[in-house]
Amino acid sequence: MRNVLVTGGAGFIGSNFIHYLLRTEPDVRVVNLDALTYAGSLENLKGLPDEKRHTFVEGSITDRPLVDRLFAEYTIDTVIHFAAESHVDRSILDPGVFVQTNVIGTFTLLEAARKAWLVDKLVPVETARFHHVSTDEVFGTLSKTEPPFEEETRYQPRSPYAASKASSDHFVRAYNITYGLPVTISNCSNNYGPRQFPEKLIPLMILNAVNGRPLPVYGDGMQIRDWLYVDDHCEAIWKVVTQGRVGETYCVGGDNQPPNIEIVHTICDILDELRPGSVFAPHEKLITHVADRPGHDRRYDINIEKIHTELGWSPRYSLKTGLADTVQWYLENPEWVSAIMEQSDYGRWVKRNYEDRKGQA
Ligand code: NAD
Ligand code: DAU
Repeated sequence: MRNVLVTGGAGFIGSNFIHYLLRTEPDVRVVNLDALTYAGSLENLKGLPDEKRHTFVEGSITDRPLVDRLFAEYTIDTVIHFAAESHVDRSILDPGVFVQTNVIGTFTLLEAARKAWLVDKLVPVETARFHHVSTDEVFGTLSKTEPPFEEETRYQPRSPYAASKASSDHFVRAYNITYGLPVTISNCSNNYGPRQFPEKLIPLMILNAVNGRPLPVYGDGMQIRDWLYVDDHCEAIWKVVTQGRVGETYCVGGDNQPPNIEIVHTICDILDELRPGSVFAPHEKLITHVADRPGHDRRYDINIEKIHTELGWSPRYSLKTGLADTVQWYLENPEWVSAIMEQSDYGRWVKRNYEDRKGQA
């Protein structure tokens, strides 16, 4: 049995990862440490396969005594570290908590792992692995003609979120080089799929469109992201954890790079098809250009050659299938949507982020 500490497992990718792991791997036990911030919810953990192999612990990755206790009590040999403040717009309005969680929190986990595995030797170090889930945003932005990001691309983070993730990546690498902590890192592009908190582009557009609210496209909408269906990311992470080389970084992406405005039009087209009788159809008439995000990265693109050739991973979902499944999931889960909005004081966030943008396109 592998004893896996998943941090941030009540959030979007972390919860999808736990569903994926319990569904596909019979020989793992999961301890899920999550602070249940606005972005985390027990709603995301309903219907887990083989639930008895999952233990939920409410608490923060910055709480060192708690983290030490979990390492010892559950003989943790694997850490998969998702917990973070993850939204760029929030990092622009409130950067401090990004430093606390993403930098200090990661540092705290690294220290606890170092103590458990290298000092107290609670498990043989050859069997241990600390996997850090990071982002392509650490590399900054690309011009139209620059080649895609790859493992060796220079770090040039441009938002407080990206800077905090870059800092955490540096700490993880330093713990491998200095202490020999067995780490791996993955830098992934934009995820989408079921259970994504509706502050992010795709679920926000789906839910606004369904409810006849404006679809707020930042600036000209020609910014480019690389989109990856969340289950594909989960599979990539597990491959890196089980087959990746210690000390290595792997770039992960979906090989899909449409401009934002095209994504929004596609969501509208899918909804027009699924709900032809809606009073809001054609949904594209709801598209509204609003003031841009300060420091908005223009283009991301990511080279997945290394993970493909070394570990045989490539995305299974096309953007077309993934988006259609995602829209369908949000339509079929209105109870999830209302519970999440209520628990997270969602209306307040929308007011704060969007009110001043109106009419500023
Ligand atoms: P999310 O915001 O949906 O979830 C974050 C989770 O972390 C929540 O459950 C929250 O309660 C928990 N959390 C926050 N602070 C905590 C703390 N101090 N202690 C314990 N738990 C805490 O984020 P996500 O989109 O699922 O992203 C997960 C990870 O993947 C992050 O590290 C993010 O940087 C990275 N990532 C995300 C994407 C993406 O497109 N969403 C892409 C690449 C990498
Ligand atoms: O690239 C990986 C990153 O992707 C992750 O590290 C982050 O955690 C994740 O949040 C995501 O960051 P983005 O800033 O790219 O995601 P977001 O969904 O916020 O925005 C996607 C694009 O859509 C971006 O160009 C901004 C734009 N956008 C977003 C919102 C919320 C809009 O035009 N309107 C909006 O209302």
